Amino acid sequence: MNRILASRAYNNFRCSFFRTMSSYAQEKTVAIDAVLRASRVCQNVFQKLVSNETITKKDKSPVTIADYSAQAVVNTILAKSFPNDPIVGEEDSKDLHGEDAANMREKIYDLANSVLEESQTIKELLDAIDRGCYSGGSKGRHWTLDPIDGTKGFLRGEQFAVCLALIVDGKVRLGVMGCPNLPVDAKNPEGEKGCLFVAVEGEGAFQRSFESNDLKPIKMSAVSSTSESSFCESVEAEHSSHSDAAQIAKLLNITRSPVRMDSQCKYCSISRGDADIYLRLPTRADYEEKIWDHASGDLLVKEAGGEVTDITGKPLDFSIGRTLKANKGVVASIASIHPEVLKAVQDVLSKKN
Ligand SMILES: *[C@@H]1O[C@H](CO)[C@@H](O)[C@H](O)[C@H]1NC(C)=O
Ligand SMILES: *[C@@H]1O[C@H](CO)[C@@H](O)[C@H](O)[C@H]1NC(C)=O
Repeated sequence: MNRILASRAYNNFRCSFFRTMSSYAQEKTVAIDAVLRASRVCQNVFQKLVSNETITKKDKSPVTIADYSAQAVVNTILAKSFPNDPIVGEEDSKDLHGEDAANMREKIYDLANSVLEESQTIKELLDAIDRGCYSGGSKGRHWTLDPIDGTKGFLRGEQFAVCLALIVDGKVRLGVMGCPNLPVDAKNPEGEKGCLFVAVEGEGAFQRSFESNDLKPIKMSAVSSTSESSFCESVEAEHSSHSDAAQIAKLLNITRSPVRMDSQCKYCSISRGDADIYLRLPTRADYEEKIWDHASGDLLVKEAGGEVTDITGKPLDFSIGRTLKANKGVVASIASIHPEVLKAVQDVLSKKN
């Protein structure tokens, strides 16, 4: 082959190679690693501090310890690969500095270092936690983290999630969720548990088990009418009213009983077709949803063929800071039935006010 042809062939190869390469490939790899390690911290806390009968079930400190340790782990890993990326996280370290927090600091130190590759000092871990204080917004890149979502589910040994998302210029581009207690196959609830969900904008939604590297594409169930669908709703009625949901289900002619679970695993559950509709109905007029509670779920559902809006039909706006202050509640479902679901939600809620 002459030199010109060879160089043209090489350029063609280069172009197609870069075109087919995933966007945010490095971010995806790092985020998966961070979420898996943070999930392991939460599982360790559960085994050591919650399942142990000597600790009373009312004691909430294991949640706090898991929260801080998981945030320290994720933020340490993100800072190593992306030192300039700010993070919007749920926790800060201000309650961890005093003498009375010495015991807790020690636990966080042990737990975080048990899953990190390079051992960190307690000061480095507290600084890592405080990297989560960013205010968010519409410019540039930032991550948002919920180190452990669904604390009641966590304490019961049921569903909770570690949720991480990358927001660039106000839009969610990458979402990763770890659900340590979610069955890999919903039809086999006693089988293997521990699922990781991944979505990259424009590239689809995927699931893998904690144990395998194999990301498999997932899709929402194709339902043509709402009467074939089912709800996935909170265990705790204080998060979203069960009686309102029941009235909405009636309007939609839904007869299947709701799937109930804690945490953002609900987004994962509908994304892979275990159920079809997730509603978060506002329980208080002044409540602002937090971006870390919805960023990865919003992208996952959309990439799996769904639609996510608030109860007025507006897309969730992740560009205005740490909360979704321009939105009220959340309505997520497969796109084909979303308009009917939204209408039923509005009919029921308008009769209340
Ligand atoms: C249960 O907790 C007690 C008190 O913290 C501790 O001494 C014991 O080793 C724990 N048991 C297990 C199985 O982790
Ligand atoms: C529910 O069923 C009623 C009676 O069959 C029907 O009139 C209505 O259109 C159905 N609603 C939806 C949303 O399918």
